[in-house]
Amino acid sequence: MSETLFFRASHASLVSPTVGLGTPPRLSSATKFGAPSVRIAETRRGRPHRMSRKCGAAWRPNLVAICSIKCPGEEAEEAEESRVAEMGKERDSDAAEADGFKLVGYANFVRHNPRSDRFAVRRFHHVEFWCSDATNVSRRFSFGLGMPIVAKSDISTGNLAHASYLLRSGSLSFLFSAPYSPSISTPGNSSNPSIPSFSFPTFQRFAATHGLAVRAIALEVEDAEAAFETSVAHGAGPSHPPTPIGDAVVAEVSLYGDVVLRYVSFKQRPDDEDEDEDDDSFLPGFERIDPEVPLDYGLRRLDHAVGNVPELGPAVAYVKRFTGFHEFAEFTAEDIGTADSGLNSAVLANNDETVLLPMNEPVSGTKRRSQIQTYLDHNEGAGVQHLAIGTDDIFRTLREMRARSAVGGFEFMPSPPVTYYRNLRRRTGDVLTEEQTRECERLGILVDRDDQGVLLQIFTKPVGDRPTIFLEIIQRVGCMTKDEQGKIYQKGGCGGFGKGNFSELFKSIEEYEKMLEAKIT
Ligand SMILES: [Fe+2]
Repeated sequence: MSETLFFRASHASLVSPTVGLGTPPRLSSATKFGAPSVRIAETRRGRPHRMSRKCGAAWRPNLVAICSIKCPGEEAEEAEESRVAEMGKERDSDAAEADGFKLVGYANFVRHNPRSDRFAVRRFHHVEFWCSDATNVSRRFSFGLGMPIVAKSDISTGNLAHASYLLRSGSLSFLFSAPYSPSISTPGNSSNPSIPSFSFPTFQRFAATHGLAVRAIALEVEDAEAAFETSVAHGAGPSHPPTPIGDAVVAEVSLYGDVVLRYVSFKQRPDDEDEDEDDDSFLPGFERIDPEVPLDYGLRRLDHAVGNVPELGPAVAYVKRFTGFHEFAEFTAEDIGTADSGLNSAVLANNDETVLLPMNEPVSGTKRRSQIQTYLDHNEGAGVQHLAIGTDDIFRTLREMRARSAVGGFEFMPSPPVTYYRNLRRRTGDVLTEEQTRECERLGILVDRDDQGVLLQIFTKPVGDRPTIFLEIIQRVGCMTKDEQGKIYQKGGCGGFGKGNFSELFKSIEEYEKMLEAKIT
């Protein structure tokens, strides 16, 4: 009987910024965990690498592979040849799709929902940050965002592999994880990690490469195992196989750079759960913490999670292909660039358009280097650029957050000039009262609208040492509709993504970059 093993590679080496980000490693469509024989991952520069080994020997450590301990023999060798050929065809197809990817711009884009998801997606489940000390970083975010720490999995709960603290406000869940000593967190020594994919070597490379950054965007899906298998069968790079933990299953595939898309499913879940309702549960292995002090600035949900990638075409084609997500919106440099720098952007969405995954690429040839390129340089490759957090009362949220900006909370980008708010009265005077407009000006809130609704938004400065990841606080107004059961909900992406404000935002980011450059030179 053939026993299978899963070899996990360094993401840093697989998708390092020098080897073609946006072309994550893929297995052949026939790949399934548990299947005997050899599987080969795509390797550097997107070319399948023909591996040779003796039976039982280890693979080269920079490759992802599943293999049989039992020597597969000649038959498997032939199958391997066939699979490599198939991978080549798939890659050609992906490349052709990417080559065919052409942004048409905001004005020409026609929104269409083909409901093409390849597996059932319920919602964003959580976002995990990897940091060097979870206690301190989680407390800073808790204080700055008004999100109580509601659960933990650490040495006090029997987890010797990593310290993880969960912050929650409404349905928004941020998880902060850091490793314990590698000498006690080696897999197999009963270190009891509650996140089954957690690995010290992977963490070490990730933290050294990216600093404080998002490691995982987690989706709650109907069946994590099916989502994983379907994704891998459609080209996703496997990062961690489906692993049961209590009544949950967790699996991961590569999203972009060293960021993984994590699938989480539960054996039992109420169907009518309100997405914004407080939910005590998280994942098995976590113990609930009752906050000693009530903390709530009004944040309620993750609206969208944005990635920066070197090349939009291959990255969008890759994610569309294995998720089935459709293009929800797009913006080109002409739509949203400034005179000095630019970017292109595309937004992918699930069937319900509640999971929104925008991606940006830099545009070169402008006077200044694109701010997306600046991010890619400082992050050492692709990664999560910003997380947009929804609130039902942005004025209250901003008053609370700004009150803490100078004492350990989050600082915001400089407010736009007075002229912005003078023009705003003309653009949104039919929606916002004079007092609301004045409050926007006092708090530095930007306002935009599309044909369906209104968007109020504001951006923090980068949240860590590097000028990389930042947060967006938003409130969407309008677009209320009823589902088939008569339940009223707000359509995803209502009011857009701030196209009309992009140039204001980017100007302020450029000013911030210029200030940094002036300090350095
Ligand atoms: Fe955003």
